[in-house]
Amino acid sequence: MAETVAQRLSSAGAANALELRGVSRMFGALAALSDITMTVRPGERRAVLGSNGAGKTTLFNCITGDFLPTSGTIRLFGEDVTAFPAYERIRRGLRRTYQISLLFGGLTVLDNIYLACRGVSRGRFSLIRPRRNDALMQAAEELLTAVHLTPARDTLVAELSYGQQRQLEIALALAGAPRFILFDEPAAGLSPAERRDLIDILSGLPEHIGYIIIEHDMDVALRVSERVTMMHNGRIFKEGSPEEIEEDPEVQALYLGGAHG
Ligand SMILES: Nc1ncnc2c1ncn2[C@@H]1O[C@H](COP(=O)(O)OP(=O)(O)OP(=O)(O)O)[C@@H](O)[C@H]1O
Ligand SMILES: [Mg+2]
Repeated sequence: MAETVAQRLSSAGAANALELRGVSRMFGALAALSDITMTVRPGERRAVLGSNGAGKTTLFNCITGDFLPTSGTIRLFGEDVTAFPAYERIRRGLRRTYQISLLFGGLTVLDNIYLACRGVSRGRFSLIRPRRNDALMQAAEELLTAVHLTPARDTLVAELSYGQQRQLEIALALAGAPRFILFDEPAAGLSPAERRDLIDILSGLPEHIGYIIIEHDMDVALRVSERVTMMHNGRIFKEGSPEEIEEDPEVQALYLGGAHG
């Protein structure tokens, strides 16, 4: 089974990481997403910006399979995954972080990361073998370093600062060789120093890992992305390089007008 997935991934090497065609999502009469078409290359770093309720998180939910789109198609590394359950997308290297923290507060930082590594590895159902697996432990230690949490290695998650908790969430998303990650407002609630740390962490990710980051803070978004998509009322209304977006009068009007949260 794993071999089939690996073969499929390597044969899809030239494909886009993500390809959405005409994706819409209704909630009753509300169009949370309307006719979204976007393409993200493998390894590309994309920011999605937009006011509250623009549909950014719904976009993530459709990409991950947490929600099915009402219409349209979603391709992941060349494969049509529109109707696939979330775990099938995870198996293909897709990960996400959530807007709201979802961590095991009673465990240490390292235990959380170790469990995430074990969760996406093959022997995850072997509960009768509680002994630690060295390769997984080493992977966990590496992720600890990647998200700047080495000093908090043995700290209980409940005792971490808010910013450290968000760093830990990034480590969890990095477990198990991801190829594409969706970050939902990782900078929300962070101090200026923590924001700088986040920018460093994202910039230091291996080049082959692409991502989409939802971000309200223009400064962070423009620094961690090579392309920016602007959303409003469930639609994409602009896409461009960080420079183009920054200089765009329509974008400036929307942002300086206080429309963002
Ligand atoms: N599960 C749901 N049921 C009903 N309506 C929903 C649901 N999820 C989102 N919506 C609605 O869809 C619209 C888009 O919401 P979404 O959460 O995607 O926005 P967002 O851009 O992530 O906003 P924010 O910046 O506040 O996080 C909103 O009007 C929201 O109320
Ligand atoms: Mg949201």
